[in-house]
Amino acid sequence: MANTYHQLCPVLFGAGALRDLPGKIRELGGTRALCLYDKGVEASGIARRMLALLDEAKIPYVVFDGVQSDAPSETVDAAGELGRREGCDIVVGIGGGSTLDTAKAATVLIQNPPPVTRYFAGEGEPFTSTTPLILIPTTSGTGSEVSLMAVIHDTASHRKASVLRAATLAIVDPELSLTVPPAVTAMTGFDALSHAVESFTTNRGNPLSDILCKNIIRLVAENLEKAYHDGSNLHYRTQLALASNLAGIAFNDAFLHFGHAAAHELGVVFHIPHGVACALTIPEVIVFSAEAAPQKGIEIAEAFGLNVSPGESGAQAGHRAASYVRALMRRLNIPSLKKMGISREAAVACAEGAYIHNPFITSALSPIDIPLLGELIGKIYDNYQ
Ligand SMILES: NC(=O)c1ccc[n+]([C@@H]2O[C@H](COP(=O)([O-])OP(=O)(O)OC[C@H]3O[C@@H](n4cnc5c(N)ncnc54)[C@H](O)[C@@H]3O)[C@@H](O)[C@H]2O)c1
Ligand SMILES: [Fe+2]
Repeated sequence: MANTYHQLCPVLFGAGALRDLPGKIRELGGTRALCLYDKGVEASGIARRMLALLDEAKIPYVVFDGVQSDAPSETVDAAGELGRREGCDIVVGIGGGSTLDTAKAATVLIQNPPPVTRYFAGEGEPFTSTTPLILIPTTSGTGSEVSLMAVIHDTASHRKASVLRAATLAIVDPELSLTVPPAVTAMTGFDALSHAVESFTTNRGNPLSDILCKNIIRLVAENLEKAYHDGSNLHYRTQLALASNLAGIAFNDAFLHFGHAAAHELGVVFHIPHGVACALTIPEVIVFSAEAAPQKGIEIAEAFGLNVSPGESGAQAGHRAASYVRALMRRLNIPSLKKMGISREAAVACAEGAYIHNPFITSALSPIDIPLLGELIGKIYDNYQ
């Protein structure tokens, strides 16, 4: 089967890359920047460093520091309104996925009337958005800086929906992730891993995404636990920043499937951080996909560094890879659904919403309907307690 691959924007990658921000704003013709971040990025000192660079270069800017986790729609509206009112002609988002997604959607509102819910993909109005947008990730997880969608929490309908707006430039500076606390390092690293495992097991994969995904799995397997214990190590952080960024490029074309469908719904219903919800789904995504396509099970196990013997079936290799991931999750203190106080029945009941709200679930290697998704969520619950 023939499938297309793209890279949506250039990526400036490397330690210290943040210093190039003022020059890049000028290159893109920006004269007044809307800068978005959240309280955590402010407390880490990163926002202050960025603003000092803009001050030094005499680039005028307006700050929106009210980004909230999971990019709630009303926060996007407030940020877009600020940018519009202040006449901003370039947007800079610096932070985790919540900030990058808020920045993407707020950029759309600079040239288009609010609220953001008007522009949800697949159901909303068409729009044109040409305002330059620079995205600077400070966590290694979402890959949002290179993906097309902004994942927005529509607080009125209580679901996650997407607005499609790519960055003009991504600046990935691994130094910015040195201050990420261990729990966030773990959950974001598992988010990147889930992107790789899911993109590798869709019916929309392409030669580039396959090569990227296997390497991303290896990068996460080799570096996540080390970065969790030694967050100030720039080498581990650089490998994870690369893994996260490449995963964004891979899943943008190859898509995701039931792991993210379940994670989005469980996340919204039970207020579970995105990376934790994604982590919980990874082992069952591997097992399900290895049963549908045994060679994938073997390649995933090998990407994790496991030896697959000639007589071992793809399904067996997939089960071993899943056990490997569960053990890593335990060591990195990813809580189970049960430990979070969620009942099995309540978790399984998310199957319907997960299916309805996430049309990309049709990208799985074999068809999934609501009852099967309920069974898979049941396995997520039972097999990791
Ligand atoms: N658009 C996409 O392609 C895509 C893909 C996956 C996930 N997402 C979305 O991304 C969001 C999750 O993003 P996330 O996991 O990065 O979490 P996040 O953006 O909510 O950040 C988590 C926490 O880490 C803090 N933090 C960030 N950088 C830090 C640093 N350098 N030092 C110290 N603290 C820091 C933040 O302040 C915050 O408290 C979810 O809303 C999810 O739906 C989007
Ligand atoms: Fe994700």
